[in-house]
Amino acid sequence: MKDKHILLHVTGSISCYKACELTSLLVKAGAEVQVTMSEGALKFLQPAVFEGLSRREALTPDMFVRKPDCIPHITLAQKWADLIIVYPASANCIARLASGLSDDLFGATFLANNFEKPVLLAPAMNSNMFAHPSVQEGLKKLESWGCKILPTEEGRLACGSVGLGKLIAPEKAFDFIKEAL
Ligand SMILES: Cc1cc2nc3c(=O)[nH]c(=O)nc-3n(C[C@H](O)[C@H](O)[C@H](O)COP(=O)(O)O)c2cc1C
Repeated sequence: MKDKHILLHVTGSISCYKACELTSLLVKAGAEVQVTMSEGALKFLQPAVFEGLSRREALTPDMFVRKPDCIPHITLAQKWADLIIVYPASANCIARLASGLSDDLFGATFLANNFEKPVLLAPAMNSNMFAHPSVQEGLKKLESWGCKILPTEEGRLACGSVGLGKLIAPEKAFDFIKEAL
């Protein structure tokens, strides 16, 4: 893990606070962590929390504002990252990635990566959303392209229902990252 470059994309699930713990675990293990945040994640958390934990600017979706690096998606995907993880991955993010949408920083980064480096996705959502064909087919497609889909946990969800779709715990996600590197 030491000096490995981990690109951690955080999306707008209620569970995104757990990405703070994952960032902290990775940093403590010696990794460099670059966080990118989706529009949804920015509704839940401020970049400052990840900046304090990772000691790096947390990158927001607008890819036209980066200076001095004017093509950040290429740098991140092809030069910087040793591994990419989406933690948590919202239903919206899964649909966007499975459709190849590249109108934001992470979408473009995802397309610029050729799967020579591991790409991990950790879904997190309500059980009905998780069971929806849009999500299941999106995950199958992403897996067929080379993404590793991390299991969800079964348990009490933030909405009160009990079932699949709960975000895998940060410690377990950390183990998957270690194994994939
Ligand atoms: C309180 C609250 C909790 C949410 N939790 C989830 C969730 O766990 N998983 C999910 O897929 N969407 C969840 N959503 C919906 C997403 O935030 C919404 O689809 C958003 O557009 C996702 O944006 P993103 O993909 O840019 O992060 C939640 C919305 C609210 C208001």
